[in-house]
Amino acid sequence: MASLLFTAFAFVISFLIFLVTRKSTCKKLNLPPGPPGQPLVGNLFQVARCGKPFFQYVRELIPEYGPILTLKMGTRTMIIISSAELAREALIEKGQIFASRPRENPTRTIFSCNKFSVNAALYGPLWRSLRRNMVQNMLSAARLREFRRAREVAMEKLIERLTAEAAANGGLVWVLKNARFAVFCILLAMCFGIEMDEETIEKVDQMMKTVLIVLDPRLDDYLPLLSPFFSKQRKRVQEVRKRQIETLVPLIEKRRDAIQNPGSDRTAASFSYLDTLFDLKIEGRKSSPTNSELVTLCSEFLNGGTDTTATAIEWAVARMIENPAIQTRLYDEIKSTVGVKRVDEKDVEKMPYLNAVVKELLRKHPPTYFSLTHAVTEQAKLGGYDIPTDTNVEFFLPGISDDPKVWSEPEKFDPDRFFAGREEADITGVTGVKMMPFGIGRRICPGLGMATVHVNLMLARMVQEFEWAGYPDSGKVDLSEKLEFTVVMKNSLRAKIKARA
Ligand code: HEM
Repeated sequence: MASLLFTAFAFVISFLIFLVTRKSTCKKLNLPPGPPGQPLVGNLFQVARCGKPFFQYVRELIPEYGPILTLKMGTRTMIIISSAELAREALIEKGQIFASRPRENPTRTIFSCNKFSVNAALYGPLWRSLRRNMVQNMLSAARLREFRRAREVAMEKLIERLTAEAAANGGLVWVLKNARFAVFCILLAMCFGIEMDEETIEKVDQMMKTVLIVLDPRLDDYLPLLSPFFSKQRKRVQEVRKRQIETLVPLIEKRRDAIQNPGSDRTAASFSYLDTLFDLKIEGRKSSPTNSELVTLCSEFLNGGTDTTATAIEWAVARMIENPAIQTRLYDEIKSTVGVKRVDEKDVEKMPYLNAVVKELLRKHPPTYFSLTHAVTEQAKLGGYDIPTDTNVEFFLPGISDDPKVWSEPEKFDPDRFFAGREEADITGVTGVKMMPFGIGRRICPGLGMATVHVNLMLARMVQEFEWAGYPDSGKVDLSEKLEFTVVMKNSLRAKIKARA
């Protein structure tokens, strides 16, 4: 009896100590400033009801609260960083501490197979194994060269599709949709290494788009209290995941078959991302990835590079239409570098003006305005403020690449700032941070090299083959933005093309 009483007493005392210390650590936290919120929900409804995209809401807060600010989103605390110095302090100087990812919401837990992907994994052995495999076995310069043929095929398909669409519509083509299809074909070929007809490609593409839609955050992700009101949406999530598995597993099995029985599928490529995953050894785990985990890893590969790259192309064409001199200079550079032959990926390395256009493009229009969400591995300081664990740490990229303290006339789209050598910027952030469209530090986008080849090559081929003009051709382009996973043009760009003589 005495021991029971003692245990109960000890329990009550420890609980009281827990409460007191918890309260005092909470009190001591010096979080960055932010707009006052409402009890319980914080700023959640202000954000949800403001009637603007989240990036616009944040952009308007920066002049008032500065380059590091806090938003309370229901039960989640979000800290948003928008200056080069603070991004450097977090991701380079304190890179190891800021290299993790936050807790997932229930939908993302399902699609990431409980954080089994490069982008979602916590900073640790699983992330190291998955990332090392992707970078060394798939995205190294040597590997990239092996997939040259896939890029050539996709570029020819793109030119054919644009030609056919223009012929059927009085010269008019949709830019984003076609660019997206071309890059998706490349990534599909790299990922699965099996031939697919256009119908299958369209089916996979449609499914991936549906996945992106259900991944959009919901109110109950921030206020789990509301989850009883979202049971329909939760059911939909399960259905979409099922459809994703049903669409991709047959492709995975087809590839498995092709490599287990060499010669059985004559159209199979000699190598694919899947080949690196089937028997992948993961630190601290005995088994290789399950089919469901393979679906997650393949989807990450396809999703990471499709919309981002296509978005860059849409903005590139918009900027060329807005400023025809850019297009003329690009075309002249292509002609003087390759003459009449088709421009290929080796040629684009020798085109400084094209490279300057693409860099300016990624400065002015980073395809994602926020890098993926980071989290700290332990409580940390940033810019003198406390950053607790279990906080979403966001980097607002235009805050850096549009900063007048870092750039001259940042609002101007001016490739000459790089071409004429007036300004420089290391896109990897190693020698300094002035723009970070691919993030910087340990979590920097592993697809940076490949994405740069894709954007340069696609733009060069599109300009070599066609003259691009606006529609209606008023010389004005509406550069308003909207968020659709990436930040695309609000009015999807339709351009008028004419085959060059
Ligand atoms: C123009 C094209 C692209 C842009 C602008 C872009 C941008 C980004 C950004 C901003 C991040 C977040 C970095 C961070 O967490 O701090 C990221 C991460 C990532 N990207 Fe890309 N990306 C592009 C293309 C690609 C491609 C082609 C692939 C691969 C097929 C890819 C795969 C990934 C992966 C796996 C991550 C997660 C890295 C990690 O958590 O360690 N991306 N990307």
